Amino acid sequence: MKNFISLKDLPNFDECIKQAMEFKKNPFSYKHIGEGKTIGMLFFNPSLRTRLSTQLAAQNLGLKTMIMNFTNEAWALEFDDGVEMRGIRSEHVKEAAAVVSQYCDMIAIRAFASLTNKDQDESEIVLKSFSKYSNKPIINMESATSHPFQAIADAMTIKENITPHKPKIVLTWAPHPKALPHAVGNSFTRMIDYFDANYVITQPKGYELDKRITKNATVTYDQEKALEDADFVYAKNWASYSQYGKILRTDKKWMLTKDKMSLTNNAKFMHCLPIRRNIVVTDDVLDNENSLVIEQANNRTFAAQSVLKTLLDNG
Ligand code: CP
Repeated sequence: MKNFISLKDLPNFDECIKQAMEFKKNPFSYKHIGEGKTIGMLFFNPSLRTRLSTQLAAQNLGLKTMIMNFTNEAWALEFDDGVEMRGIRSEHVKEAAAVVSQYCDMIAIRAFASLTNKDQDESEIVLKSFSKYSNKPIINMESATSHPFQAIADAMTIKENITPHKPKIVLTWAPHPKALPHAVGNSFTRMIDYFDANYVITQPKGYELDKRITKNATVTYDQEKALEDADFVYAKNWASYSQYGKILRTDKKWMLTKDKMSLTNNAKFMHCLPIRRNIVVTDDVLDNENSLVIEQANNRTFAAQSVLKTLLDNG
């Protein structure tokens, strides 16, 4: 594995999960493997979990970490070629990526979707540019279209709570006042392809995810029907994909409630966090013993540690 951009880059998904589970039991089993090496972590968007869990994962492997927040610390970067740089963008990614790659051995990047230009978002211009102009492995800490660290942590969390029967896993759209990207829903859906599960996605009309990603899922507009007998319910908001980046509704009809959870098979509740209480989900669902959200966040460390170890193994 040269880069970790998506789940497809993993040499073996099951081995990655197994290794992550082992790191959860013994985080320091490879505490010297990263010694003398540095990971640069570049944030073009805010983060709590990704920043701290990836840093902790790196430290557990003996790596040094350097963190830069491009929203308020670094020069604003230009990504287009051949432009006369008269605007607010002071540095081209060509130089920035080449310079950063001299300071570290791997480069982890968070760069969300703009949600204004689908083609540009899907081209993953930030990750691709850093990959093109640096000579170091690139690691996705949530890009425009995917959040593979989150998906690995979610897979661990499901495995830790797996049912004796083939599980029914439901991804339900939930309301949110802001337009949010599709990355978590995309990666969760791609990850479920590795499970033997009955996978159902439910969302209002107009909020269908990219059909190339959801082709193996059952997709329904009937949230209550989708929730029936579910073993895992993953709530997540995303903006419209077809009317790219638009918010089509914010009413509470799709909020996940205790009454809706009563339709399930005593389902575990999942969300990647951060979550808006009583908008996405009611307090009583989030605070219920069936909520796995804190463990999902815990598993982020070991998901990242497993990926970083694999990259280090590859030199
Ligand atoms: N789930 C997740 O990626 O959290 P942060 O945005 O806080 O990193």
